[in-house]
Amino acid sequence: MKVLISDKLNSEAVDILKAQGLEVDVDTELTPEQLKEKIKGYDALIIRSKTKATKEIIDASDNLRVIGRAGVGVDNIDIPAATAKGIVVMNAPSGNTVSAAEHAFALMFALSRNIPQAHSALKGKKWDKKKFAGGAEVNGKTLGVIGLGRVGSHMANMAKGVGMKVFGYDPIITKEKAAELGIELIELDRLLQESDYVSLHIPLTPETKHIIGERELKLMKKNARLINCARGGVVDEDALYEALKNGEIAGAALDVFAQEPLIDSPLLELDNIIVTPHLGASTKEAQVKVAVDMANSIVLALKEGKFENALNLSSIKR
Ligand code: MLT
Repeated sequence: MKVLISDKLNSEAVDILKAQGLEVDVDTELTPEQLKEKIKGYDALIIRSKTKATKEIIDASDNLRVIGRAGVGVDNIDIPAATAKGIVVMNAPSGNTVSAAEHAFALMFALSRNIPQAHSALKGKKWDKKKFAGGAEVNGKTLGVIGLGRVGSHMANMAKGVGMKVFGYDPIITKEKAAELGIELIELDRLLQESDYVSLHIPLTPETKHIIGERELKLMKKNARLINCARGGVVDEDALYEALKNGEIAGAALDVFAQEPLIDSPLLELDNIIVTPHLGASTKEAQVKVAVDMANSIVLALKEGKFENALNLSSIKR
């Protein structure tokens, strides 16, 4: 059985797959056209976020049984197209949790104390102590967490550890479950109105696209700060630009963007925004964990027909 890995993946995954007798090809420089040709004959495709598993590529496959996403987000996979072809889509949802939450947490502090801006100024030989004074403590403030899955819950726990009050919005979890997590579950509008920090931890779906837009940004406090380490499309970037430019909110920290890689954006011209290039899951630990988790899932799927963390299994007929 043959596995194609088309994005950079920790080599432990290859070792696991080969040790189980699977044939593995790693080719991380394929164009979409090349992948359309190459995919033929493979039983499994493993990707991260660079490869777009589009309908064209899925339809061009002839033997594919499973697409494995080494990570959480599956917005780069056309799941309906995979389902229609009987191909199971699986992700590795837990390996990134700590890294993604820690990145959001780090951005919250960096944003509060103007750390990236002050760092750049000093590297440019400017001792701008006055300019960057007036930061905010997070202790005693309220964090609104949108999405209380693995990453959101971890973020909430860390926030409680530094003396923050945590509100949560999640249409799926129950009040009881939120109470177990020590989080007050409230409606989105109230969360936006009452939080000093708002952090997003939701997937990008048609329902969550632009969940934070002009109306929602206007609900936020003038001294509130927004953190997005989830997916770019959940925040309307044009509306965010206006809100930051007009001082409707105090600042934003973004790790994810509607278009990645982000080449140019008016957002980058603003002083009250800090940005990182989708680094949430890019720690050594997370990369090993997601690669190993996905390799083990592929072995189980191909050798035993057991699909862990499958996202479309119940919709597949054969
Ligand atoms: C994920 O969805 O797993 C993270 O955003 C990291 C990535 O896209 O690779």
